[in-house]
Amino acid sequence: MLIGSIINGSERNEQDRETHEVRNPFNQELIGTIALASPEDLDDAVNSAYEIYEKTIRHMPAHKRGEILRKAAQLLDERKEEFAQSIMIESGKPIQQSRTEVQRSVQLLLYAAEEAKNITGEVVPMDAAIGGENRMGMVKKKSLGVVGAITPFNFPLNLTLHKIAPAIAAGNTVVFKPAEKTPITGYKIVKLLHESGLPEAALNLVLGTGADIGQPLVEHEKVAKISFTGSVPVGKGIQKSAGFKKLTLELGSNSPILVFDDANIEDLAVSLIKGGFGYSGQTCISVQRIYAHTNIYEQLLEKLIEETNKLKVGDPADESVDIGPMITEEAAKRADEWIKKAVEEGAKAEVGGERNGNIVPPTILTNVNKEMHVVKKEVFAPIISVIPFEQEEDAIAQANDSIYGLQAAVFTKNIDRAFRVADQIESGGVWINESSTYRQDNYPYGGVKQSGVGREGVKYAVEEMLELKFIGVKLER
Ligand code: SIN
Repeated sequence: MLIGSIINGSERNEQDRETHEVRNPFNQELIGTIALASPEDLDDAVNSAYEIYEKTIRHMPAHKRGEILRKAAQLLDERKEEFAQSIMIESGKPIQQSRTEVQRSVQLLLYAAEEAKNITGEVVPMDAAIGGENRMGMVKKKSLGVVGAITPFNFPLNLTLHKIAPAIAAGNTVVFKPAEKTPITGYKIVKLLHESGLPEAALNLVLGTGADIGQPLVEHEKVAKISFTGSVPVGKGIQKSAGFKKLTLELGSNSPILVFDDANIEDLAVSLIKGGFGYSGQTCISVQRIYAHTNIYEQLLEKLIEETNKLKVGDPADESVDIGPMITEEAAKRADEWIKKAVEEGAKAEVGGERNGNIVPPTILTNVNKEMHVVKKEVFAPIISVIPFEQEEDAIAQANDSIYGLQAAVFTKNIDRAFRVADQIESGGVWINESSTYRQDNYPYGGVKQSGVGREGVKYAVEEMLELKFIGVKLER
């Protein structure tokens, strides 16, 4: 299967193009080849998105945008198994987890269909200003133009739709660059959106590797906004290159979890293991640092180990598998090195084992310290550290001792403490009695500190895909 960029509705997959192979991360089988876009193709993609925005899309009524998104939800629901298989085979995400991603994506499209029809403005009380009598002022929300969407490998469907669907709902057009490891699902969702009635030039797909196409997209003068999910260094680079464009950057994290001694250990251990090891920890909000009160530390650790030992590691296509491969052997080697380095420096691997190619066994570390990579950096791998604490303030200070702040969690039955701690944790979101990895697509999602700028979550992303325009009128009386 040779796929190419889709620009103004035409696929650019001529045989003489440079190509990039897409392989199944579990068995390295070739599953597709992408024909790479050139900087000229990127320019064509932006120009076609820009032209149709100016001619058609900026005037498209909200009900029509909503109808396209609703149709896309319906088509995706009809083809959900095909999309789940596509996610599984190119990202290595276990099939059950891939199905969950598709289910979330169907709902996301439905939220976007509703939001498209719910963009409202405001009337300004002009007479609040001395001399403002006999004037009327209104604030309208206007679409931006061309949105550049740059997406990661870990949620090739859902994180893609977190950018494309709000952009369409808000009346923008899109140039979309998927991760080179997982472009096939991106290719399919672009075609599905076209099939749903979206004019083809309004959503263009550009296929590239690394920054070769991403960089000119970020710099292009006809692009009004960049929405990016990925690493902190790339996010910083985008900030430097984007000029006056609006930005949404969803970057990394090393999510902290605070477990107090009145929490329900049996239940939370199950959700923390799922949250730390699901998709081999390759989620920005994966459970990474568990701070456990000393009174329940041993009990919690025992339960976490017990739950980890129940996990089945293997082929992501197998219905019963919980942990598949990491995206590349390079990523698995890096994770393995961090574990080994931590152990050399005094950490204890309570559960874990030898890396097997791309597969890193789920690993629980104790006796870690805050300078170790496994604590300080984003592991993005199946590695959890469990750290004891005695005082609430100390646990909060340790949780906040990070350059990141995306999503955190606190487990306690004490409602005062729950909200007190939640208020003090420095992150874009905090869950009480739920794992940091739990996410729904209808609440604001984004980071503080180096975890990013802006918010996703359909309603909030739509707001960030719009700009305010004031219109005032002086009335004759
Ligand atoms: C992410 O990795 O940031 C996305 C997590 C999710 O949507 O569940």
